[in-house]
Amino acid sequence: MRVGILTGGGDCPGLNAVIRAVVRKGERRYQDRIFGFLDGWRGVVDEDFIELDVELLRGTLPRGGTILGTSRFTPYMLEDGLDKVRQTIESLRLNGIIAIGGEGTLSCANELSKLGFPIVGVPKTIDNDIGLTERTFGFDTAVAIATEAIDRLHTTAESHNRVMVVEVMGRHVGHIATWAGIAGGSTMTLIPEEPFDIDEVCRALNRRHDRGKHASIVVVAEGARPKPGTLEMGEEKLDQFGHVRLGGIANRIANEIELRTNYETRVTILGHVQRGGSPTAYDRVLSTRFGTAAIDAVHDKAWGEMVALMAGDIVRVPLGDAVAELKTVSPQLWAVAQEFFA
Ligand code: F6P
Repeated sequence: MRVGILTGGGDCPGLNAVIRAVVRKGERRYQDRIFGFLDGWRGVVDEDFIELDVELLRGTLPRGGTILGTSRFTPYMLEDGLDKVRQTIESLRLNGIIAIGGEGTLSCANELSKLGFPIVGVPKTIDNDIGLTERTFGFDTAVAIATEAIDRLHTTAESHNRVMVVEVMGRHVGHIATWAGIAGGSTMTLIPEEPFDIDEVCRALNRRHDRGKHASIVVVAEGARPKPGTLEMGEEKLDQFGHVRLGGIANRIANEIELRTNYETRVTILGHVQRGGSPTAYDRVLSTRFGTAAIDAVHDKAWGEMVALMAGDIVRVPLGDAVAELKTVSPQLWAVAQEFFA
């Protein structure tokens, strides 16, 4: 078969491992030819690609980022975008396309597959917010990086009797914050799913200090929000694709904590360090499993489906169902996190 592959949305550790697995199994088992589109859907629209083979992919398993480049562009942003996708598929005589991406890329893949384009999806994102898969690759790496940072912040916080506010990524869900908060022993974690009351946060810190603990770590998901009417927030900024640009809420929270409690407070915003660099062993394995399953799905003509992890096994689920709503932090896991607050 002739198969296209693209990586869209924010980059994420494990993308190269998926590409490598697709190419390896495609070439060796199926004698496929694999065409890698550059910069996500942009490469499909512009017919901008490189042909991939096992030799070219050597050494990429542990490498972060994506050798194909990525973007948040979708064909829907151009009037003739869909025609151009059709032209590219015809001119390269592609049997199918593997789209590796998060919510934006997979929603686009879903729309295109509803129109009859032969597409299979692979869920990627450090945010772990794609439905119908227990995990997306990249998440484990992000949690490991955030946990290590929190471990390091504990010792400096304790040495100076400070409150440390650590901001982690995750967009509109709190998976990274909840996991890193539990793993790093945070004093408190704030996530978008559970709007916070800054008064309650400060009261809890005060109670802790009254008990003689003078250092605290507050983990804040970048998408965390106060309960309505409890804390004034600045205006939301949008990126060039109209997505809310998150990041920076930790500064607002830290100011407020210092003002209300008088405890010296510092901020660490982990930012893109959470998704740069080498994937963990877990993410390498998950990416490899997703990649091999995706090329099998292409050979089964499972168009409009996404490979997913369920109960430890790789399965296929309809793309439309997977992107229907964001996967949020389960109340059960959140209850565990709360047991350890303040
Ligand atoms: O979706 C992945 C992610 O890293 C989010 O956690 C974060 O909000 C966003 O991408 C950052 O996007 P950008 O790289 O465009 O700043």
